[in-house]
Amino acid sequence: MNLETSLAGLRLSHPILIGAGLFKLEHELAKALLIGAAGVEIGGFTYESREGNKDGRNFESFEYGALNSRGLPNLGINYLRQHLNAMVAMAHAAKKVLLVNVAGDNPDQFAELAMVVIEGGADGVVVNVGCPNKWSGDKQERVISYDPRGFELVLQAVCENVRSKYPNARIFVKLSPYFDYVLLAEIDSLINIYKPAAVIATNTAPNGYWSKDGQPLLTVTKGFGGYSGVGLRPISRGNTRLHKQYLDPEIDLVAVGGINSGRCVDESITEDGATAVQVVTAIGARHERDDVIGRMLTDYVEILEARQPATV
Ligand SMILES: Cc1cc2nc3c(=O)[nH]c(=O)nc-3n(C[C@H](O)[C@H](O)[C@H](O)COP(=O)(O)O)c2cc1C
Repeated sequence: MNLETSLAGLRLSHPILIGAGLFKLEHELAKALLIGAAGVEIGGFTYESREGNKDGRNFESFEYGALNSRGLPNLGINYLRQHLNAMVAMAHAAKKVLLVNVAGDNPDQFAELAMVVIEGGADGVVVNVGCPNKWSGDKQERVISYDPRGFELVLQAVCENVRSKYPNARIFVKLSPYFDYVLLAEIDSLINIYKPAAVIATNTAPNGYWSKDGQPLLTVTKGFGGYSGVGLRPISRGNTRLHKQYLDPEIDLVAVGGINSGRCVDESITEDGATAVQVVTAIGARHERDDVIGRMLTDYVEILEARQPATV
């Protein structure tokens, strides 16, 4: 069965991509390309390199999903300048799409990161305004997704900078889950002004907490972390459906959050209005040799086949 689809004008061999957070380095991408996704979103990359929240447990799964507070460990814009060309070549040789997730500290950093990504030949830049795990010492930084003014400054800076040289560059926006539809609609009205190619929804739900035997599951950032996996699924689905309602129809939607089966893929595409989906926790928390995406694809094909009229 032909599962090919087109996302923001990009041809995908099927609609399942690997989302941001798991793969950042050249040798990690080589491994990611062996997983059967149609493409990989690498990153997030910040302007300066960051060690992240590394002294303790920062990504743990449990019965309702997973918590992470990795704090964006990465080698910064200089790594992209030096390695992105080679990473793009590697992905394209494997006939896969490569997106790069960026998260600056301010609009100018976002704009410069985005330019480096596009000049490095990636298929698209993902403007990540939803990271909940950046802490400065004891204080957590604001999540830009929840600050319309800050969000507009970032989106405007990226769009103006990149489009001044590359009018057709693919800009994606990665949003946090919203619990207030008025705020979601306000953010979408800004997105409709700048018209990025696609919106990816959702990032993790900020400030989840879980404990085991009286001890916090995460031992960094006071036990707080972004919540992902199965429990996030209803929230992310609701957000996808609301974005479908408020975004201009030419802006594609990518669903992410708790997607781990062919049924999830089908629901996101057939019912919720997404063009493609991403998987993160189901891959990050899997057993080394578990072919998560292969299994999802087989199930998805079976669902589509069962829907086709019988020929005999
Ligand atoms: C360990 C980990 C690291 C992540 N890092 C990033 C990141 O750097 N940038 C980003 O946009 N999202 C990041 N995310 C969020 C995921 O891309 C995804 O939006 C979220 O986890 C929901 O999908 P899931 O339930 O399939 O994990 C990260 C998630 C996890 C679990």
